[in-house]
Amino acid sequence: MRKKLVAGNWKMHGSLAENAALLAAIKPALVGIDAVVCVPFPYLAQAQAVLSGSSITWGAQNLSDQPKGAYTGETSASMLLDFGCRYVIVGHSERRSLYGETDAQVASKYVAAQAAGLTPILCVGETLAERESGVTEAVVSRQLDAVIQAAGVATLAQAIVAYEPVWAIGTGKTASPEQAQAVHAFIRSKIAALDATIANGLVIQYGGSVKASNAAELMAQPDIDGGLIGGASLVADEFIAICRAAAKHE
Ligand code: PGA
Repeated sequence: MRKKLVAGNWKMHGSLAENAALLAAIKPALVGIDAVVCVPFPYLAQAQAVLSGSSITWGAQNLSDQPKGAYTGETSASMLLDFGCRYVIVGHSERRSLYGETDAQVASKYVAAQAAGLTPILCVGETLAERESGVTEAVVSRQLDAVIQAAGVATLAQAIVAYEPVWAIGTGKTASPEQAQAVHAFIRSKIAALDATIANGLVIQYGGSVKASNAAELMAQPDIDGGLIGGASLVADEFIAICRAAAKHE
């Protein structure tokens, strides 16, 4: 059976002092529960120092698709490894929409992450306009296909997929458990058509306004294997409750 895994996406939030308080609160509360925090680059060392030896792992929110060189402002996979990262988010909708990352660039970041031994958390999801025009599955398919074509379906054994409907991110509008489950089931069946074993083992997280109050019903869905949590991951009690709700449904 798949394990559930909840990851926090802190986005561009935090400070040394705020992070210290947040990490000090979640670490003892999540003993024995696997969870991930994806922190801003400057705080990776802090996450490593505080979380080493705990059941909480840490990661980054982006990486370069290049290994090194004249790429001002970029951060390579091997740099993330230097700070003990295990995970890296690729293709978050904010990267796609605000920074123009294309499906092809996302795919090459996915490849770079895996080549270094990091587990990419590959984000896919449709906008409100796309959902309303009935192309949700086509959009999610296209985003997945870019990665499958670049890397091969077998590489999904070392990846996580996060379904994040753009209209639900940071808006307070969560997809209903049924809406989310339907897309998760679609993703799994699409992968299963290529490789049933990979599909069965693939962790598919849901992201988009997950909170303590709606986590249990989302995590109870058969194809929802955890969450990618933005705003609520910055509030210790919320994040702890979401992680516990996921663990309960394993
Ligand atoms: P949210 O963000 O939980 O604040 O909606 C989720 C995400 O962007 O990963």
